[in-house]
Amino acid sequence: MGNSSSVSKFGYVAKQPDSNGEIYFSISEHEIWNKLYSRQINLIQEHAFYQYLEGIKHLNLDDNGIPRLSKINSILLKSTGWQLQPVDCTISFDYFFHLLSNKKFPAAAFIRRSEDFDFVPVPDIFHEIFGHCPLLLNKEYANLSYKIGKLGVKMSKEDQKYLARIYWFTIETGLIKSNKNIEIYGGSILSSYSEYNYATTSELPLRLPFNLLDILRTPYRVDVLPNVYFNISSFEQLQEITEEIIIEYIEKAKVLGDFRSLYPPRDIAKIA
Ligand SMILES: [Fe+2]
Repeated sequence: MGNSSSVSKFGYVAKQPDSNGEIYFSISEHEIWNKLYSRQINLIQEHAFYQYLEGIKHLNLDDNGIPRLSKINSILLKSTGWQLQPVDCTISFDYFFHLLSNKKFPAAAFIRRSEDFDFVPVPDIFHEIFGHCPLLLNKEYANLSYKIGKLGVKMSKEDQKYLARIYWFTIETGLIKSNKNIEIYGGSILSSYSEYNYATTSELPLRLPFNLLDILRTPYRVDVLPNVYFNISSFEQLQEITEEIIIEYIEKAKVLGDFRSLYPPRDIAKIA
């Protein structure tokens, strides 16, 4: 998210969809997907949330090239009514929330280069499809994205920052902790080799119990591995985040202020 651009600062260029909204990729780009898929599907089996793994099967994702958006869309439509919308490499917050409020999920129309296999600092089509689409079949996950979108289109820039934090600490980097097992539902983790290993094994990041007020007060960065994750105990917790509660808690967060950032200043931060 950011200002809309078809070229990212990392040198990626978004493809233009055809009149049916389909994106076409080259053979070498499909091969990158195949390698990413094969490695990631094996890696995530132990800790991926079981409904996510069911979603992978439901969508028939495999190592047979980047799936056509129309194929994914027909399955999503029948399930939760969502659709993938091809977008530029970066999009504005306003457009992001506008899409979510229409049950359209932004799909960055490019795939990473091989040097960014392990961790890509901007979302690519592998991240969007592999990381998010399996759980867009899940009602609670899809509803939370929709609620964030509906609030986002009505809120000021200042308040949108808080919504982005909810999105980041749930849809992108959310963990589920039950009976001491860690399961992952965050798309950023599930689609990244480095972040999956980091989130499941590293002692560096804090893993805190889900607390909406804490989330609203916690700054984050998208271009480095996170210093903090929030665990939900079950997906029902996502359902409890109503629009009214979000509005109420944003006001509380404003009064209390942000927590001190745990990240180093941007210019000396190592890009992971
Ligand atoms: Fe994402």
